[in-house]
Parts: sequence; C-alpha cells; structure tokens
Amino acid sequence: MKIECSLKPNRLFAPQLVGLVSSMDKNGRPNVATLAWITSVSAEPPLFCIAVGRSRYTHQCITSSREFVLNLPTMDILKEVQLAGTISGREGDKFEKVGLTPVESIALKTPCVKECAAHIECKVIDTKEAGDHTLFIGKVVATTCEFGAVKDGVLDVSRIKPVLHLGGTFFTTAGEIVDSRGL
Ligand SMILES: Cc1cc2nc3c(=O)[nH]c(=O)nc-3n(C[C@H](O)[C@H](O)[C@H](O)COP(=O)(O)O)c2cc1C
Repeated sequence: MKIECSLKPNRLFAPQLVGLVSSMDKNGRPNVATLAWITSVSAEPPLFCIAVGRSRYTHQCITSSREFVLNLPTMDILKEVQLAGTISGREGDKFEKVGLTPVESIALKTPCVKECAAHIECKVIDTKEAGDHTLFIGKVVATTCEFGAVKDGVLDVSRIKPVLHLGGTFFTTAGEIVDSRGL
C-alpha cells in the first residue's frame, strides 16, 4: 500500500554519496565544504556536476577560481565531514578549524584533502542556476586515490567506507559488493 510521504523529496531519494569539496578563494586561501548533491554527468569527456548553494563561501571561491576538487571522505572522518558542512570558511581557515590537511593537487592550484581516499580534480566548464543552488559542471583533469582503494575495477567499499547521507545529521555507509553476474 502506498501512502503520501511528507519527507523532503531529496531525503526520499537517498542515501547520497558525500564529498568534501575543496576550493580556493581569490587570495589563494583554501576552503573545504561538505556536499551531497554531486553526480557524474558524462563519461567522455569525464564531467561531474556539483550543486552549491549561493550563500556558501565555496560558491564564491569556485566562481572566481573556476576549479574545485571532489574529495572522497570515509566514515573514520565523519565528525570532520559534519563540521565542514556546518561552519563556513568565510570567517577563517576551515581546514584548520575542522582538522583537515590541504595537500598539493596534480593539475590544479586548489589543494586536495589529505585525509580522503580519492581526489577528483575538476576545471569548471559550465554553470547553470537551479533554484537556490548553482550547478557547476567540472571537467576532470586528474584523479588520485589511496593505495588499495580499488579492487576488481571498482572502489573496494569493504575497506573504504564511503559516507552516505540520509538527511540532517543521519548517515550510513556501504560494505557489501554484489556482482550481478552471480545472480
Ligand atoms: C551531509 C551534508 C551535505 C551537504 N550537502 C550540500 C550540498 O550538496 N550543497 C550545498 O550547497 N551545501 C551542502 N551542505 C551544506 C554546506 O556544506 C554548508 O553550508 C557549509 O557550511 C558551507 O561551507 P562554506 O560556506 O565554507 O562553503 C551539506 C552539509 C552536510 C552536513
């Protein structure tokens, strides 16, 4: 039996994979923010789309630098993920406040987040306004990952526990890998 659901629609289509998006302001100061509205939108060329609220400092940073890094956090830094998604980097160094470490990227001036398992460096090629968010479409220019993060051509989620957002302060993770050829 179907019932009408009062849940916000984005909470019904869940969980959503969480990223830590690093960016850089016009003075070269790095920032980091938690984002769950992220999706891959093209395989060739590889493109990612991120939805950033117009009030975020990250919005200002990416608008001026035209680049960002999509970093993949794991459950062992969930506290940092929550904090990076609660406070703004507008007032000071959020990397330091949250306890995360900026490290050099391969192709961008914007740093990666050291504590994350994978890093996808993107250059913005397009933007689109969508309600109260802006969609930044980024072309992937470099990717790096932690040794042992990949197995059989996919992310090894039995080792690398991704952060999945259910809504508000609620999260979950993944651990089981199912090969549908075995069904
Ligand atoms: C789990 C989680 C997911 C979030 N997803 C998004 C998102 O997809 N887009 C967005 O603009 N803000 C999102 N936020 C909120 C921002 O991370 C938050 O406003 C942050 O303080 C922005 O930081 P900034 O001002 O330094 O950019 C999320 C927060 C959390 C905790």
